[in-house]
Amino acid sequence: MLIRTKPDLTENDVTPPALYRQRRRFIQSGFALAAGALVPGLDAAAATLEVKKFVGLGTSRYSTDEEMTDIEAITNYNNFYEFGLDKDSPAKLAQEMKTRPWQIVVDGECTKPMTLDIEDVLADFAMEERIYRLRCVEAWSMVVPWVGFPLSALLKKVEPTMNAKYVEFHTLHDPDQMPGQRRGLFGYVLDWPYTEGLRIDEAMNPLTILSTGLYGEVLPNQNGAPIRLVVPWKYGFKSIKSIVTIKLVEKQPVNTWQQQAPNEYGFYANVNPQVDHPRWSQARERRIGEMLRRDTLPFNGYAEQVASLYNGMDPKQLY
Ligand code: MTE
Repeated sequence: MLIRTKPDLTENDVTPPALYRQRRRFIQSGFALAAGALVPGLDAAAATLEVKKFVGLGTSRYSTDEEMTDIEAITNYNNFYEFGLDKDSPAKLAQEMKTRPWQIVVDGECTKPMTLDIEDVLADFAMEERIYRLRCVEAWSMVVPWVGFPLSALLKKVEPTMNAKYVEFHTLHDPDQMPGQRRGLFGYVLDWPYTEGLRIDEAMNPLTILSTGLYGEVLPNQNGAPIRLVVPWKYGFKSIKSIVTIKLVEKQPVNTWQQQAPNEYGFYANVNPQVDHPRWSQARERRIGEMLRRDTLPFNGYAEQVASLYNGMDPKQLY
């Protein structure tokens, strides 16, 4: 559905269940595209657990034309410490994670806190969902065709107050399902739950998305199903996976890596080839699938969209 932000928005405006159910029926019977042609505005479709493919999605204007990384690499070379420390562990160990039922609590400094079921999120934001082909960079880099919608659409729904200066995110904490959270198994590496944060203007920027799929299908568990953040101008660790809480807060949150190694990781983590990580240079990156390393770009190549968010700040602070 379309999210309106007018002050006269009522609760009834926000969820058209009949439209959603109708749309799901169309998809299930394979007529989603035809239906889109017949019913104005019905061109985007929510993937559900039964229906794994997204159909009829438009492409975000932020998408790059660069060659996309092979799906095998995107889904087998992962960081998801809840499922082990090796890059190939999440693909093996995350498959049993249950992503239904799944609820997301959105609360804190807002006038309409909500607990949302993932199916309702998929339905409510189906019309805003696009394919975003975005670069992601850590020590390596990839181009991923995410399916996602702007985080701002969800935040507007809860009506942040003036005190909402930051947004804090948490991943599911469930050691029964997430072996990496069990003390002793992989050495209990981090303080769980995995936590991340953004400044409110970063969170409201249209390049900040919540992703529910990639390569046109629902998100594989190892990539952060059923819903994860993607912030392409920041290093990969900011893009928190398998989110269960989104809290509007007044104070700057301490993220997991900052808490773990404050001398190595900061709050902003903006991609900056001129600022080295204390243990390695961040000037160049290896794009998965390529032999030679390439120069890393400031803000990962998204300076035009986001550099102005940091006007007047010391770039050294921004790591
Ligand atoms: N989110 C959670 N909950 N746990 C994690 O260990 N790792 C981060 C980020 N989000 C991580 C996480 C890091 S370090 C990276 S590089 C990206 O996820 C990797 O995302 P990908 O596996 O989809 O490429």
